[in-house]
Amino acid sequence: MSGFKLLRTPPGSLVVFVCLLMSVVENLHKGPGVKVLVKEHDDAILPCSLSTRENLEGILFDWRKNGQKNGQKKEVFLYDAGDHYNNGHQGQDEQFKGRVSHFQDQLMNGNASIKIQNMTMADSGNYSCDFPHLQPSQTFNIELVVELTLKDRSGEIPGTCPEPYIKTLNDMKDGLLLQCEVRGASPKPKVQWQDSAGNILPSEGKCSERGGLYYVTRWTAVTKTDQYRCVVTQEEIGHQIDAETFVPFCEKPCEDCSAKNLIGGFYGFIIGVVVLAVAKALLVATKHFRAN
Ligand SMILES: *[C@@H]1O[C@H](CO)[C@@H](O)[C@H](O)[C@H]1NC(C)=O
Ligand SMILES: *[C@@H]1O[C@H](CO)[C@@H](O)[C@H](O)[C@H]1NC(C)=O
Ligand SMILES: *[C@@H]1O[C@H](CO)[C@@H](O)[C@H](O)[C@H]1NC(C)=O
Repeated sequence: MSGFKLLRTPPGSLVVFVCLLMSVVENLHKGPGVKVLVKEHDDAILPCSLSTRENLEGILFDWRKNGQKNGQKKEVFLYDAGDHYNNGHQGQDEQFKGRVSHFQDQLMNGNASIKIQNMTMADSGNYSCDFPHLQPSQTFNIELVVELTLKDRSGEIPGTCPEPYIKTLNDMKDGLLLQCEVRGASPKPKVQWQDSAGNILPSEGKCSERGGLYYVTRWTAVTKTDQYRCVVTQEEIGHQIDAETFVPFCEKPCEDCSAKNLIGGFYGFIIGVVVLAVAKALLVATKHFRAN
């Protein structure tokens, strides 16, 4: 009955609406819903603000990173009534030393956000911002995703794919079969064939796993002269490496195109040399004739 009344009286329904809105906003802050996307090497701001906007200068808040293998959390940043990791407080994890700062002028607005400099792959993960001494205590969860640029990271990370092996198999009637092979890589790589324009070519493959390493082979059939690339990508660690091969075809597909071209080139060269020699001989002969 009172609900019915509320709906009919505008001020009451407004209160209900505002309360609903506030609880929605509150849940947005609390749940695992806050996600921060940031590019590798950029700085990240991890947000954490109390909706009450109460002054934080004299209280304690603690930022930690979840999901370590042993279930322990890493200490990212701790502020305790003016003491913090950048002015002598001990206990910060090595990974974050010298990289994290808070916003001093924002504390009085209830804002405990932090900035972490120079994002690397290892920074991806779930963070929590805790106010253990508040009544009731509060925790905010933030998921940080570092977007990696794809590049050759062979020297940087163990387990990256080495350059793949390319082989040309001549067992097709109207074209050639190209084979690309990755021997032992982890995490599992994606292997693709591309033409020189960057188009991904249809291919077939097989994959096996031994001792935690992946062995991948992919084949594609080609019928046109082009530079073909086998591109190997390990998305999770931002690693990409490739190998290329040039495949020549005559007007009609033939198996030893490159050999034929070479032979043609060789004959051309011989003829050229002979013509030059004859011309020179003629020249010398005429000079000799004139001189006489
Ligand atoms: C908290 O401070 C940071 C850094 O100045 C700012 O980017 C963020 O918008 C602030 N959050 C709120 C809720 O004001
Ligand atoms: C960021 O970190 C990388 C190593 O991960 C380092 O090579 C680079 O110089 C750093 N950049 C800045 C701006 O500190
Ligand atoms: C972070 O948390 C989200 C949701 O809570 C989960 O799906 C994700 O796997 C977590 N990420 C890591 C790296 O633990």
